[in-house]
Amino acid sequence: MEIKLASKNDSREIAAIHQQEINQGFLSQLGVRFLSKLYEAMILSENCFIVVAEENNQIVGFISGCLNTEEFYREFLKKYGYGSMIILLPKILNFTILKKILETLRYSKKIDKNCPEAELLTIACKKEFRGTGLSTDMFNGFIGETRKRGIKEFKVVVGEELSRAVGFYEKLGFKLHSNVTIHKGSSSRIYIYNVSSL
Ligand SMILES: CC(C)(COP(=O)(O)OP(=O)(O)OC[C@H]1O[C@@H](n2cnc3c(N)ncnc32)[C@H](O)[C@@H]1OP(=O)(O)O)[C@@H](O)C(=O)NCCC(=O)NCCS
Repeated sequence: MEIKLASKNDSREIAAIHQQEINQGFLSQLGVRFLSKLYEAMILSENCFIVVAEENNQIVGFISGCLNTEEFYREFLKKYGYGSMIILLPKILNFTILKKILETLRYSKKIDKNCPEAELLTIACKKEFRGTGLSTDMFNGFIGETRKRGIKEFKVVVGEELSRAVGFYEKLGFKLHSNVTIHKGSSSRIYIYNVSSL
């Protein structure tokens, strides 16, 4: 098993894991083609980093982070907005989906200004690797990358219904900060992780 920073060629495999393992999440509704673009943009952005776990030349899990998510979305819209619109065209015509896209782009506005800017955006591993310690190994790789970037603390926003992810964050020492509603009818928790306290 190798834990390493993702490279551009990994974006499709990362997108496929996201789609499969977070299948109830809103971003998964946008499809693997769009998610591949999003992850490609993250891998290439100075603002983001993705740590992957690879076994037998296959990605089996990933964890993504951002120094400033609002800035990254602005950068993404500038560089990939037109291409994404074409990929998403049939979905954008659906009012509910369009509303959720806009809510996602603006979600930082709903988060307490006292929260750290840096953020763990997503962690996921293939089902067969859950409970094996792989996610903790990926998380430790992620912490190594936060240190290289001078990040002292970061937040994560996690859907209330993702009980295993909530258990994972609490096990690792994340502290509950507050609750937030990004999309109507679904509550999320904001947790903070203090890198410097280790
Ligand atoms: C989140 C995820 C990466 C965690 O990896 P994992 O290998 O499952 O995590 P672990 O087994 O190491 O830890 C989960 C912990 O949560 C707790 N837990 C397990 N099942 C739980 C449940 N149903 N409800 C609450 N807590 C639970 C346990 O304390 C467990 O740790 P322990 O068994 O060592 O005591 C993985 O479950 C996953 O990919 N989930 C789908 C994607 C996802 O929801 N991502 C979060 C979006 S930000």
